[in-house]
Amino acid sequence: MTDVAETVPLEEIDLSDPGAFAERVPHEWFRTLRREDPVHFNPEPEGPGFWAVTRYWDIREVHRRWDIYSSEIGGTSLEDLEPDQIEARKSMIDLDPPRHDEIRGLIKSRFAPRAVREWEEQVRAIARKVIDLALPKGEFDFVLEVSSEIPMQVFAEILGIPQEERRYIIELGDHLLGNQDPEFARPPEKPEHRLLPFSSPVALEMFEFGRRLAEERRRNPRNDIITQLAFGGLTQREYDVNFVLLAAAGNETTRHTITHGLLALIENPDQLERLRRDPSLYPAAAEEMLRWATPVHHFRRTTTRETELAGTRIPAGAKVTTWFTSGNRDETVFENPDTFDVGRDPNRHMTFGPGGKHFCLGAHLARLEVRVVFEELLPRLRSVELAGPVKRLRSNFFNGIKQMPVRVEAA
Ligand code: HEM
Repeated sequence: MTDVAETVPLEEIDLSDPGAFAERVPHEWFRTLRREDPVHFNPEPEGPGFWAVTRYWDIREVHRRWDIYSSEIGGTSLEDLEPDQIEARKSMIDLDPPRHDEIRGLIKSRFAPRAVREWEEQVRAIARKVIDLALPKGEFDFVLEVSSEIPMQVFAEILGIPQEERRYIIELGDHLLGNQDPEFARPPEKPEHRLLPFSSPVALEMFEFGRRLAEERRRNPRNDIITQLAFGGLTQREYDVNFVLLAAAGNETTRHTITHGLLALIENPDQLERLRRDPSLYPAAAEEMLRWATPVHHFRRTTTRETELAGTRIPAGAKVTTWFTSGNRDETVFENPDTFDVGRDPNRHMTFGPGGKHFCLGAHLARLEVRVVFEELLPRLRSVELAGPVKRLRSNFFNGIKQMPVRVEAA
């Protein structure tokens, strides 16, 4: 199935407007940009404007050249922050080498393929439990009952967060990141919250939570991520912001992938059937769901000097955004990019970033979760269909689904 119209006039495109992503992803915009203006200057109503990079290989170039395209100078989100705000919020994602590599180095082995494989049975047990609770309801919100539950339960398991506190941390995650969407936003920013991640008072609650875990590990060290961070020689602020990063990074991203994954199967019944008939396709199907969902539309860099990309000059100090949503449908890289194909091979999507220093630390874990959820879900289903409208998050950062009512018949 395809979901893309042709192209549109360039003047109609405004990637700064979250409203443009409210009903659907404007894929025709990206198709137009890739063809006509692959390094496009997008003015902003209240800001300096940004460059939008939309072709696969150009996006890779930006992420590879961290010396020209810095994560540290202006952070990685589109929002313009004051220097003191940037300084206070710097987790590894908002740092350049060498400090980036030092902090990532503390915990990276915990997320390597071999380490992640050891979590498979725990992830499977969580998926089973969550699915077994949801399916007997017959009709339910898939986001609430399944896709939001699994990533945070897995994360909580890996961090050793007690069961009874898990719902609390999921809610914190929602309030922390859904801040472009009126439904999730908390009261307006106060001056004293300027220095917090996402300018959000919720970050303080997250800090508190993380500190309690660290204290506990200092008393009783374990062989785990928190212990490594707690003994890693980080400042209190570095610990805090990296804890928030870990809590936030895998939450909504994995949730939205799982939700979009099921939606794609519902909308493409031939692919659902194909996957049921051939379970060896689950790993490829998980990759295709990741490509199809692209839960993070873009990240941002800031140029350290004047440079040229694909023939376009970009001044020093400019905001440059890389649109994975577009790279993942680049027709020079993917055959029939607008088709959802559970057997797609090769599938070198850039959902976790295109490689380079900041390639998603949790990529192997997220892959595992998506695959295992569908391996557990599909054999338990005789049928599945939408039972109401799919409610999307209003955001040009997350490709998010807030609510997806489904009706199921258990097998
Ligand atoms: C489908 C799920 C996920 C998606 C789509 C995703 C996407 C991304 C992307 C695109 C980046 C690159 C940011 C940049 O270049 O500036 C990134 C970085 C990161 N992700 Fe993920 N992520 C996912 C799941 C996870 C999980 C499960 C975790 C772990 C708990 C995680 C932890 C991180 C961290 C720590 C970074 C920063 C790495 C660095 O700066 O070196 N992510 N992620």
